[in-house]
Amino acid sequence: MGGIDLSINICGIKLKNPAILASGILGCTSGILRMAAESGAGALTTKSISVEERHGHRGPILIEPMHGVVLNAFGLPNPGYRAFMEELKELEDINVPVIPSIAGRNYEEFVEVSSAFEDAGSKILEVNISCPHSEKGYGGVPIIAQDTEKTAAIIDAVKESVSIPIIVKLSPNVTDIVEFAKVSVECGADAVSAINTIEALEVDPILERPVLGNMIGGQSGPSIRCIAQRKVADIAIAMKRKEIKKVPIIGIGGIRSGEDIARFLLLGAEGVGIGSSILYDDLDTFDKAISGLKDLMREKGYKKISDFRSNALEWMI
Ligand SMILES: Cc1cc2nc3c(=O)[nH]c(=O)nc-3n(C[C@H](O)[C@H](O)[C@H](O)COP(=O)(O)O)c2cc1C
Repeated sequence: MGGIDLSINICGIKLKNPAILASGILGCTSGILRMAAESGAGALTTKSISVEERHGHRGPILIEPMHGVVLNAFGLPNPGYRAFMEELKELEDINVPVIPSIAGRNYEEFVEVSSAFEDAGSKILEVNISCPHSEKGYGGVPIIAQDTEKTAAIIDAVKESVSIPIIVKLSPNVTDIVEFAKVSVECGADAVSAINTIEALEVDPILERPVLGNMIGGQSGPSIRCIAQRKVADIAIAMKRKEIKKVPIIGIGGIRSGEDIARFLLLGAEGVGIGSSILYDDLDTFDKAISGLKDLMREKGYKKISDFRSNALEWMI
């Protein structure tokens, strides 16, 4: 496999390859995060961590109503940052960057958790403002990432309180994701990731009720890949046209193979997040996808990712 350099750089942090474990799919224990690192992931995003412990929603919390359609309403279960720090310490010897993901109900909580991770030595954070089912049931409360003022307030507050780079995780559940990427970058986001899950619902026709315990959830998996690609392209085009300052984009949504990784890189993404595929292919996803990407690059005669990044985007400008 020699001769091909898959390394990328996100906000000054070098990754050996662009395949990042997306937030949340593997829970919060150091053991499972270590296994993802051993499977070849270029970086690990943690489950979103809040101030206090959260138990999450009642079950069912994860279903596959059709092949390739994953619906979840976990409700951000996590032990709270104080307890999670113990797990993080267990990962100090792995040679793979860890990206803590931060969740909160208001800007004070985002600031508290972000500052705690910076104090604990984290080099970068992902700020999750886009979980579509963090609150219970069908409340109709818009998520932060659906409101530009709230988005700006959270990012401003986090940027004022930490000096490490932050990745802002955007929601696809808006009319124009570019508007939210713009607000994020103007408030100092050092990178953006897109997309979080898509608002979704499944109904049991026999029981005549919503299937998920929380009723509403978020869709992920192979069925959302093309939607995610469109959102990433929209942001990348706006950056290319200088309507938004250029920052790294991490493309997330339905990625399962080396070809899928290439698709996002061809649309201008710096790196990619891999989540639900692990439910289909186990942690072998990383090894398979990275070898697949290398094979594709070898066939095309590419030696490094910058040899082909954004090539598909050029058709759209
Ligand atoms: C079971 C599950 C739990 C998730 N938990 C989180 C989370 O804690 N924080 C977050 O930012 N995103 C979370 N996500 C969203 C993923 O990180 C990702 O953005 C989304 O699932 C799309 O990628 P995928 O199709 O590769 O899964 C979760 C997704 C799933 C399926």
